[in-house]
Amino acid sequence: MNLETVVSVRHYSDDLFSFQTTRSEDIRPFKAGQFTMIGMGDNDVLRAYSIASAPSEPHLEFFSIKVQDGPLTSRLQHIREGDQIEVGDRPAGTLILDNLLPGKRLWCIATGTGLAPFLSIVRDPATFERFEEVILTHTVRTVQELAFAEMLATCPIRYYPTVTRESFHTQGRITERLASGAVFEDLSLPPWSVVDDRIMICGSPAFNNELRNDLQSREFKHGTNRAPGHFVQERAFVMQRGEQD
Ligand code: A2P
Repeated sequence: MNLETVVSVRHYSDDLFSFQTTRSEDIRPFKAGQFTMIGMGDNDVLRAYSIASAPSEPHLEFFSIKVQDGPLTSRLQHIREGDQIEVGDRPAGTLILDNLLPGKRLWCIATGTGLAPFLSIVRDPATFERFEEVILTHTVRTVQELAFAEMLATCPIRYYPTVTRESFHTQGRITERLASGAVFEDLSLPPWSVVDDRIMICGSPAFNNELRNDLQSREFKHGTNRAPGHFVQERAFVMQRGEQD
């Protein structure tokens, strides 16, 4: 583990915040979509966090839930500029473009803090060398939780936010909007095909399972390092709401 200095913190709601840290040279290079460990240095609690910054950026960025009695985030949520935190020096993880077969369109489908790895992927120029079009969907409870929306609007992607517990122009769970075809209609895109579409999934376990089962029933194969496929998934780091951090 390395000690890194917090350079900025942003709070989105009572439940969500993001922060940036220094990135010392001891931290090994990583691929967009990977995660590393984070701790506060004063006890044994370490948690895996997807890295939200791009591999080429000079700092590291993370996106986190706040669990009020969580062993890590009850304290992590109070960090300020200048504080030091522990960051693992060996990022890892399989939610990476290398585990996907070549395709035409890349779909990144996130709920909640599952957005984090995709923030790295859509800020990595290499992504756009591999795919003609990149679509990022983010499903959250409230409009306030649409973190990073301004930044995403400046990326060369189709950004498709959906909100489940407030009225919004694209309302409801992404799984429902995919099943009804509303997403494809809204974006003027054809439904998913194993020929053209590659899908990355990151969110709560129930969401991940639901989407995986749906894709597997339609001949989409999960990709690994040894055998790249049509989709990859990883549970969101850090924990989703309702889970202990
Ligand atoms: P909902 O409001 O209907 O539960 P959370 O804040 O609990 O982490 O959830 C983030 C978003 O993911 C919420 O908008 C939530 O919708 C949605 N969600 C939760 N479970 C699923 C699921 N199984 N499939 C699709 N979306 C889900």
